[in-house]
Amino acid sequence: MEVVIVPTPDDAARVVAGVMVRVLVTMPSPVLGLATGSSPVGAYNVLIDEHRAGRVSFAHASAVLLDEYVGLPADHHETYRTFIRRALTDEVDLPADRLFGPDVWADDLIAACLRYEHLLAELGGVDLQLLGIGTDGHIGFNEPSSSLGSRTRIKTLTEATRQDNARFFPSLDAVPRHVVTQGLATILDARHLILVAAGHGKAAPIARAVEGPLTSMCPASALQLHPHVTVVVDDAAAADLQLGDYYRSVFAAKPDWQPL
Ligand code: F6R
Repeated sequence: MEVVIVPTPDDAARVVAGVMVRVLVTMPSPVLGLATGSSPVGAYNVLIDEHRAGRVSFAHASAVLLDEYVGLPADHHETYRTFIRRALTDEVDLPADRLFGPDVWADDLIAACLRYEHLLAELGGVDLQLLGIGTDGHIGFNEPSSSLGSRTRIKTLTEATRQDNARFFPSLDAVPRHVVTQGLATILDARHLILVAAGHGKAAPIARAVEGPLTSMCPASALQLHPHVTVVVDDAAAADLQLGDYYRSVFAAKPDWQPL
């Protein structure tokens, strides 16, 4: 796991966007895995600026969502499909029919989860998956105790996650209880995973994910099993890392021929 510690959330956004731009300009038809929530928004803003400046195009890309709330109307402001369109894809030249997410409006949700797994396989897998991390250590919506071998399925949110996400809704009661999320094993199928986190509230889950034991009690610790993971954090989110000085020295001495 490569840990990149930078001073501010804006620096983290630029590092993450830089990796995404490289994938977009070097691959003929990249598949990007997009996360929602606050953490990736800075990187999405940089990507929108790069697109407007004519330096990057999404015309031949596909984008897949990590997860989606169950129970919101399809046109609700806070569905993850609506969120990602607002935050990124409507602002760039990604073809509208190349944005994919789990079909949480299907009558048979279990079949819809399976269809999403098939779709990811048909796309040839995800080239670069962007991730945030929950304060309880979740990635996607794989809450603590999620099976390390889990695939796309329905999950129930913890009260902690519902409270964290209540800021996007008029009240806690309005936050859905259920979601469909890519499983931990689904996420680990992506060829490159990049996790971004900023702020003191993410220091404890980042330390558990990077340096703690591999355990379903911290689902993000499953990233330790993957051969190509980049964790990009600001100083505040890096505060609890035991080897913070080491990660900083590794990044400072990174050879030019070895991109993130
Ligand atoms: C979002 C997702 C979640 C968030 C996590 C952090 O698609 O899957 O895992 O990344 O809840 O959310 P923020 O970034 O809002 O702190």
